Amino acid sequence: MITNLTSSQQAIDLEDKYGAHNYHPLPVVLSKGEGVYVWDVEGKRYYDFLSAYSAVNQGHCHPKIVGAMTKQAQTLSLTSRAFYNDMLGTYEKYITEYFGFDKVLPMNTGAEAVETAIKLCRKWAYEVKGINENEAQIIVCENNFHGRTTTIISFSNDEVARKNFGPYTSGFIKIEYDNLLALEEALENNSNIAGFLVEPIQGEAGVYVPSKSYLSTAKALCEQYNVLFIADEVQTGIARTGQLLAVNHENVHPDILILGKALSGGAYPVSAVLADNEIMNVIKPGQHGSTFGGNPIAAAVAIAALEVVKEEKLAENAERLGQIFRKELSEFAKTSDLVKLVRGKGLLNAIVINDTEDSSTAWDICIKLRDNGLLAKPTHGNIIRFAPPLVMNEEQLMDCISIIKNTISKF
Ligand SMILES: Cc1ncc(COP(=O)(O)O)c(C=O)c1O
Repeated sequence: MITNLTSSQQAIDLEDKYGAHNYHPLPVVLSKGEGVYVWDVEGKRYYDFLSAYSAVNQGHCHPKIVGAMTKQAQTLSLTSRAFYNDMLGTYEKYITEYFGFDKVLPMNTGAEAVETAIKLCRKWAYEVKGINENEAQIIVCENNFHGRTTTIISFSNDEVARKNFGPYTSGFIKIEYDNLLALEEALENNSNIAGFLVEPIQGEAGVYVPSKSYLSTAKALCEQYNVLFIADEVQTGIARTGQLLAVNHENVHPDILILGKALSGGAYPVSAVLADNEIMNVIKPGQHGSTFGGNPIAAAVAIAALEVVKEEKLAENAERLGQIFRKELSEFAKTSDLVKLVRGKGLLNAIVINDTEDSSTAWDICIKLRDNGLLAKPTHGNIIRFAPPLVMNEEQLMDCISIIKNTISKF
């Protein structure tokens, strides 16, 4: 069905009336996207500086990805895993070689992949490590964001995400992020620890980049205590931070790698869990699955999306443009009362607004940015995340930087 909406307000009113109010979108209604740009219903063009939470790293409607998707959709879309299909094995070989793991378990959304990693880790703990049944524990970090399922929110400390969704799943120990001492203490006093689940950069929390060597030392500690290092790269992976994976900045090879979002370039829900045989082989037929996981469209789309990342050197571009972005905005921050600091890696960055956590300043700035042709959204409180598609060029980036500077200067 083609919509016959004539104004943005009509679309907003429809969502308001017929949709659950589980989001609070910035008031802009998008109807088209191409590369780094999106257009609203009235035809106004914007730079997308969120990239659907880093799903659209390859840019909107990338022709190669859309081509692979439409071709496969016209050939074979879904078989379920009751039968083999001729795309899945090809994709599994491609993605495991691409990231350097023995095996992949295909899922659809990020949260599903996180759930899969938790199940895999627990099963490994009982069947390989030898922890007594139902006693395995997984260490997680404060202010984490790993998705929205009942189990995942059980170990969140975001009260908005948790309140009145109990009873919660047990088996998780929370420690401070970027605190190696806390990790070591949790590991040395407890032989029931099965895994350490961590975001290499905490994206949703406000783009918190941990101290240098945090990830590599954490991995070494996990090895010492025979605990699985589980990297949730749903947001940081696929070239976003200037390397193919954010853990690559510290040459860390996770025991379990979780991917989603940009694995499809935002064209289709595709997520994945990667691990070596010693871990992945604990999963036997019937023990885990998903009707759509590993479907032929997902396989075709993910191969195309990963090829684009290499062919267009998106990690290198994110690294180079990220340096420019942080340099320009850090200099600007020195002259601005409103911008407290700029932080990030590659093209996953944030500015911290100089106001109280519960003020609406960051939101109000995002409204002005929208008026000036750039779409971004606050993460938590007074932090604005800036994550454009990685296909951006330097001229476009400089244009965006001047929109951001002008908007904040005039605010
Ligand atoms: C680090 C991380 N893990 C998991 C998820 C959940 O992914 P999804 O929304 O596809 O379930 C997100 C989403 O923002 C994320 O940032």
